[in-house]
Amino acid sequence: MEAIETIFKRRSIRKYLDKKVEKDTIITLLKAATAAPTAANCQPWEFIVTDEEEKLVELRDKLIFARYNAPVAIVVCGNMKLSHKGPSQEMWVQDCSAAIQNILLAATSIGLGSVWIGIYPLENNIKPLKKILNVPEYVTPLGIVYVGYPAEEKEARNRFDEKRVYWQEYDPNRKHRAKDKPVIGHY
Ligand SMILES: Cc1cc2nc3c(=O)[nH]c(=O)nc-3n(C[C@H](O)[C@H](O)[C@H](O)COP(=O)(O)O)c2cc1C
Repeated sequence: MEAIETIFKRRSIRKYLDKKVEKDTIITLLKAATAAPTAANCQPWEFIVTDEEEKLVELRDKLIFARYNAPVAIVVCGNMKLSHKGPSQEMWVQDCSAAIQNILLAATSIGLGSVWIGIYPLENNIKPLKKILNVPEYVTPLGIVYVGYPAEEKEARNRFDEKRVYWQEYDPNRKHRAKDKPVIGHY
C-alpha cells in the first residue's frame, strides 16, 4: 500500500477477531516504531508487549477507555534515564508519539487494525498500568497501541478544513464555530 493511501486509510479499530498476531509481525511494528524521528536522535522509548490474556483482562478492567478485545497491547514508554535532561526532557512525549503513529500506520499498511489509548498525563491511567506491568518509577507509559486483526471496517475520513490553515501568518480575527469539549474523553 502506498504510504499516502495508508495515512488516509488509518482509523481507530475497536473490535478485533479472535486471532493471534504473529511475533514476527509484532517485531515489524516495533521496527516501524523505532524508525520514527526523535529529538537529537535520543530514542528515549521502551516497549512492553503484552499478549497474555490475563494481563490484557487486567488492563481492560483498570482502564475504562481501553475495554476492547485486542489480542496484543504495545505499551510505548519513555525512560527518563534515556531521555534528555533539563528543559528538553519533555521532548520524550513527542518522540514516543511519533513512534506510536508509526505503529498505527505500519499496522494499517499490513492489514491490521489498531487504536491509540492515551495514558500519559492521566495519573488515573498511569498508576494502575505501571502496577499491572511492573513499570519502574523512572519509566512513564505514554500510550498503549492495541493491535489485532480487525472485526470492523471504517471509511477513510477527510477532516481537512481550510479554516484551520493560515498562510504566511496567523489571523486572530478569524472566527471558529465554538465547540464544547468534555473535560475527559468519551470513548
Ligand atoms: C492521544 C490519544 C489518546 C487516545 N485515547 C484513546 C482511548 O483512550 N480510547 C480510545 O478508544 N481511543 C483513543 N484514541 C483514539 C481517538 O479516539 C481517535 O483517534 C479519534 O476519535 C479519531 O478517530 P480515528 O482514529 O478513527 O481517525 C486516542 C487518540 C489519541 C491521539
